[in-house]
Amino acid sequence: MKVNDLVLGRIINIKPYGLFLELEDGSRGLLHISEISNKYISNIYSRFYINQVLNVKIIKIDKDKNFINFTIKGITKEERSLYENKMNGFKKLERNINYWIEHYKGGDSMELDLKYVKNAANLKDYEESVKKINHMINEKTGKGNDFLGWTTWPRDYNKEEVERIIKKAQFIRDNFEVLVVCGIGGSYLGARAAIDALKGLRNNDKIEIVYMGQTFSSEYIYDELEYLKNKNFAICVISKSGTTTETSVSFRLLKELLESKIGKEKAKDAIVAVTDKEKGALKTLSDQEGYETYVLPDDIGGRYSVLTPVGLFPMAVAGIDIKKVLKGAYDSMIKYDNDDIYTNDCYKYAVNRFNEYENNKKSVEMFITYEPKLVQLNEWLKQLFGESEGKEDKGLLPDSAHFTTDLHSLGQFIQEGTHILFETVLYVKNPSKDISVPHDEENLDGLNYLEGKTLSYINEKAFLGTLDAHSNSGNVDNFVLYVDKMDEYNLGYLFYFFMRACAMSAYLLKINPFNQPGVEIYKKNMFHLLGKKGY
Ligand code: PA5
Repeated sequence: MKVNDLVLGRIINIKPYGLFLELEDGSRGLLHISEISNKYISNIYSRFYINQVLNVKIIKIDKDKNFINFTIKGITKEERSLYENKMNGFKKLERNINYWIEHYKGGDSMELDLKYVKNAANLKDYEESVKKINHMINEKTGKGNDFLGWTTWPRDYNKEEVERIIKKAQFIRDNFEVLVVCGIGGSYLGARAAIDALKGLRNNDKIEIVYMGQTFSSEYIYDELEYLKNKNFAICVISKSGTTTETSVSFRLLKELLESKIGKEKAKDAIVAVTDKEKGALKTLSDQEGYETYVLPDDIGGRYSVLTPVGLFPMAVAGIDIKKVLKGAYDSMIKYDNDDIYTNDCYKYAVNRFNEYENNKKSVEMFITYEPKLVQLNEWLKQLFGESEGKEDKGLLPDSAHFTTDLHSLGQFIQEGTHILFETVLYVKNPSKDISVPHDEENLDGLNYLEGKTLSYINEKAFLGTLDAHSNSGNVDNFVLYVDKMDEYNLGYLFYFFMRACAMSAYLLKINPFNQPGVEIYKKNMFHLLGKKGY
């Protein structure tokens, strides 16, 4: 590779000043915005996207820094046609690009930054235990070992079932206005987190997703049913046990409404159930009524089930490419099944959050996002860590905040309040949409110093300023997880990253990450008060 060579570069990062590219041999460099075109590029984010492959020319190679500079505008017509001939015509070039994208293994779509952690764990102290626990997870020899099906699920999932899901989801998309997802806890949070994260909060997709089964609130349920009366809706009811009361009550009401609207026969095609493969009331009902059913495997618990039909069916109906989600999870599985604490970011994060609890005596982990559409992802994280670790009088309390919004409320406590917490920030580097601050002649609001700056630029500066304020002035440790962009692949990658980190953290605490005995106590009391037989 030398200066003036024409090469293919895949976009790995987009910044206001240019594109970072990776070549087929893994080397990297910058295509500065001034080298893209002679015309003014007003919004680089809307013209380019991560993983897009560009034909570029090398203009400088810095061997010391292992860095390359590229141009597009400097490619002459002759050079381009010579190059295309060399590649044996454009068809061949296209084939190469597809092959490359298909076989790109990702691997660094997430990055853990511990720069803002003052008392980080001494990794040497954890070398041995991490190796032991990783082996325990893989060999299924630890506590709760019959619930480790999720560890290899991105490889072993039922391919035929995924095809069925895609087909049925398309049928629902083509024939209904609304899908009601009816479930609670692990049978609800993952789907909602994924749909919000990937479709945004103003989802103008052809089908609307509505959530029920996660509350007894009469007001909420009444309002949703009123809304659905005038809608052509389908239902996806999700319950592993098939007996969860919140879900069952809502489903009974939904089923009654649907059948009264379209009749029992048609309702059969409009109802899908995700439940145990053979037991439980929902399975019995589904078999009797003839609903399409998908299986939540025996060896995967609710909060580890987002990559099973529990999460995949609602995602597919929402128009999400679930194969890409599974691919991201697969790459994450390959990457983090690695017992070397020095190179495994997932375990580095797990060990450090354990260290915050055990040695730095912190009791709260606050998950932070700068994106409103990721608030539900934090809810998923709170369940994952809270239900997995909060037992035997141990565990960090998972909490969450949404910045900069909550900097104007909780920010005060974080900065100067009791030192009980640390923060885990999930920062998305390249939002899929952006907008610039316009010029104003009068400048009465004094904002012209931001003229032309994008909101993602401003959000990033708020994030960097907050990091410094909280960690340096406030002495609040901050773990930062950078994600290139929020897409199907990266979300699947993230889901798996956190599940694996959670299992490692819980085993470091010496508890079973996969049960939730405490949850039963409120249920028993409630059943007693409701007069259920046997309570
Ligand atoms: O993680 C869990 O196991 C729980 O949150 C369950 O998912 C939740 O209680 C719902 O249970 P089910 O799917 O049996 O209705």
